[in-house]
Amino acid sequence: MPAGAAEAAAVDDGAPLLRLRDVNKSFGPVHVLQDVDFEAYSGQVTALVGDNGAGKSTLIKGIAGSQPFDSGDYSFAGQSVHITNPKQANALGIEVVYQDLALCDNLDIVDNLFLGREVTKRGLLDESTMEQRATETLAGLSVRTVKSIRQVVASLSGGQRQTVAIARAVIWNSKLVVLDEPTAALGVAQTDQVLRLVRQLADNGLAVVLISHNLNDVFQVADRISVLYLGRMAAHVKKADVKSNQVVELITTGRSGDIGLRAESETNDVPKELPPTPEAADPTTTGEVDR
Ligand SMILES: Nc1ncnc2c1ncn2[C@@H]1O[C@H](COP(=O)(O)OP(=O)(O)O)[C@@H](O)[C@H]1O
Ligand SMILES: [Mg+2]
Repeated sequence: MPAGAAEAAAVDDGAPLLRLRDVNKSFGPVHVLQDVDFEAYSGQVTALVGDNGAGKSTLIKGIAGSQPFDSGDYSFAGQSVHITNPKQANALGIEVVYQDLALCDNLDIVDNLFLGREVTKRGLLDESTMEQRATETLAGLSVRTVKSIRQVVASLSGGQRQTVAIARAVIWNSKLVVLDEPTAALGVAQTDQVLRLVRQLADNGLAVVLISHNLNDVFQVADRISVLYLGRMAAHVKKADVKSNQVVELITTGRSGDIGLRAESETNDVPKELPPTPEAADPTTTGEVDR
């Protein structure tokens, strides 16, 4: 099957694995996420993009349960769930690879993969089982650049470290993995290596959420793109339906042509005769991201 046909089929099938409706999150008086909808699909990469301060990290912390949403509907695999801590999210098969990776430099790859979740047999560490699972997991991700699974993490390249962090997230039969800027600190070759891994995760059937500032990365691996703008979801689009300049416009103004947020003056609940609010009318103020 040609790659394009496979991609089109993947983008159209099924119900989302993760479905958020009208989620809200405030920190004190600051309403960071406002009635946000979001979906992620098994077998697909959903890119989550938006300017600094748009609310991307807040959204994924809500998904991961580390900073639960204040309100809204959260459903997973068709079931309505209430996620208030990371353990509950992990139990559903949700894993997040944060930007700092949280690897232990002085430990080797196997130790890092099983850190805090070691496999034991009769009270002892079951090294051979862990080694075998580590090998299988890396092979399943088509990772061939790691020489030995007993290499200490300090000796690995940036791309390899990212690979280990991703492998740790998927070794426990995960269903959804969120990657926060996995290529931010990488050079060209290593970025390519990590993006291939991101694609591989989706091709293995996982739902992947990729947070990225880099639209080249997004256009290389994503099936869908969700754009957050000042705490509101400006658009969910299929990659095939948009051009990169439209996504840039959505990120910077919340709108591109017919796609995106409507100005306050155009919504039904505001009478037509009212003048637009200065914030809605003036792109220089709506473009303000740091609140
Ligand atoms: N713990 C917090 N307390 C107060 N404000 C916060 C907190 N976390 C995030 N914010 C604010 O929420 C907004 C969105 O932040 P964040 O989700 O980190 O955005 P992004 O990841 O898209 O850059 C920012 O204005 C930020 O200052
Ligand atoms: Mg962030």
